Amino acid sequence: MKSSVAATPLAQVETPLLAIAVPQSTSLPASLADLDRAAGGVLARALGAGDYKGKRDETLLVYGSGKAQRILLVGVGKAGEVTRSALRRAAAVGAKRARTIGATAFAFAIAVEARGGVSATEVGQVVVEGAAHGGWQFTELKQAGDDPKPELEAVAVVVDPADASAAETGRSIGDAIAAGHRLTRGLQMQPGNVCTPTYLADQAAQLANTYGFTLTVLDRAQLKKEGMGALLAVAQGSAEEPRFIALEYKGGGTQAPVVLVGKGVTFDSGGISIKPAQNMEDMKFDMSGAAAVLGTFDALGRLKPKLNVVGLIPSTENLPSGTAVKPGDVIKSHLGKTIEIINTDAEGRLILCDALSYARRFKPAAVLDAATLTGAVVVALGHHAIGIMGNDEALLAEVRDAGERAGERCWPLPLWDEYRDLVKSEIADVKNSGGRSAGTIAGGWFLREFVEGFPWVHLDIAGTAYMDSESAIQGKGPTAVGVRLFSEFLLKRAGA
Ligand code: BES
Ligand code: MN
Ligand code: ZN
Repeated sequence: MKSSVAATPLAQVETPLLAIAVPQSTSLPASLADLDRAAGGVLARALGAGDYKGKRDETLLVYGSGKAQRILLVGVGKAGEVTRSALRRAAAVGAKRARTIGATAFAFAIAVEARGGVSATEVGQVVVEGAAHGGWQFTELKQAGDDPKPELEAVAVVVDPADASAAETGRSIGDAIAAGHRLTRGLQMQPGNVCTPTYLADQAAQLANTYGFTLTVLDRAQLKKEGMGALLAVAQGSAEEPRFIALEYKGGGTQAPVVLVGKGVTFDSGGISIKPAQNMEDMKFDMSGAAAVLGTFDALGRLKPKLNVVGLIPSTENLPSGTAVKPGDVIKSHLGKTIEIINTDAEGRLILCDALSYARRFKPAAVLDAATLTGAVVVALGHHAIGIMGNDEALLAEVRDAGERAGERCWPLPLWDEYRDLVKSEIADVKNSGGRSAGTIAGGWFLREFVEGFPWVHLDIAGTAYMDSESAIQGKGPTAVGVRLFSEFLLKRAGA
């Protein structure tokens, strides 16, 4: 989506749709008086009739007589509580509406009364991010839709002339993050027969070519040489070739890198511990962590911040077959620890543990992993929060703060010593499943067993990577969660 900043008075904006963020109120915000006059007083009339209150996500579409063909008010809730995430959300609501109308472009403004303490730079960034989020659709695989809508191609961020240059700075950041977001969502959406481990490696190669990243891809034979027994154990049930992908972005000289790890299971049937058929098709989304790492690298390539970043993606399918790993099998990980497989459906931790151990060679300043790891995180937190765990309080706080800025909020679960028993095995160093209780923590503790020598944070995105129903800001489907959080984290680390 193209984006631009326009320092035009609201009444002068020519657009198919002018969306405006407004605070909760029973009267028209004073800053919209000129626009309302130009539109023939429709806004004041609608508010006066009590039809519209400006509650969060509440919209009002009117057809006035002014230069904007349509005006859409988008509520952001109480004026005193407006955050950058509330404004991003409002822009997404506006974009989603623009797309359903069939508009190919829209303009977005924020009534000063709804601006909160959000800076002009942030406005430029989050409006573009939100517009890209709400305007997204995936039509690639349909010959003809039932009610085909054109792509939403452009958003103009309307600001005060005094804010124009700061908003432009933010717009270019938002534009890069939105591009990464789009890449991630497209990858998530691709079905498992298209998006295989090889396909993910090809995507990484394209990014490496475009932006000059260093790329290493290991195939099955090389994984054996490297000793990645846990990743291989998951891959042994599938005819599809596994891949281990390492991307390196170098913008920080000799500094220790941040390592991002993404779970890349391109389809998770559960393996021999097979899943029920209901909703199994959603398990194509089990590569969402990997997709978020790739999207973040797209944003890095565009923004070129001053730091070093490594992206690691262990990728495989998880299928049952005559060669598949079985419950009771004991395998040897890359780190050397032996693992008793209790449940072949706890495959994510197996492929991630080898990646965490591989990460040691980069002497990382921090390692962040994102994985659709446990159904239990959906039980605990639903679809609104990422489950966050780790071994370093300062890093945990830094990641949570990035999530807050990104509108991808994280909520902590404890990795107390008491929970370590969940992964104790009678026969091997650890086991891969601790049964029904504290499922998300057991996943976190398992990973922690393979973290040696660096601060680390684990993000369980099983509840946030895709939505099973439509909301005000997006349709059913992938969210690209992680891209904005990683980008915020990295930009702040780079001092940008
Ligand atoms: N990919 C799933 C987790 C998942 C569940 C993601 C629902 C998205 C939505 C993961 O590999 C898995 O199967 N986890 C098991 C772990 C258990 C066997 C210890 C689970 O959550 O049931
Ligand atoms: Mn599984
Ligand atoms: Zn899985």
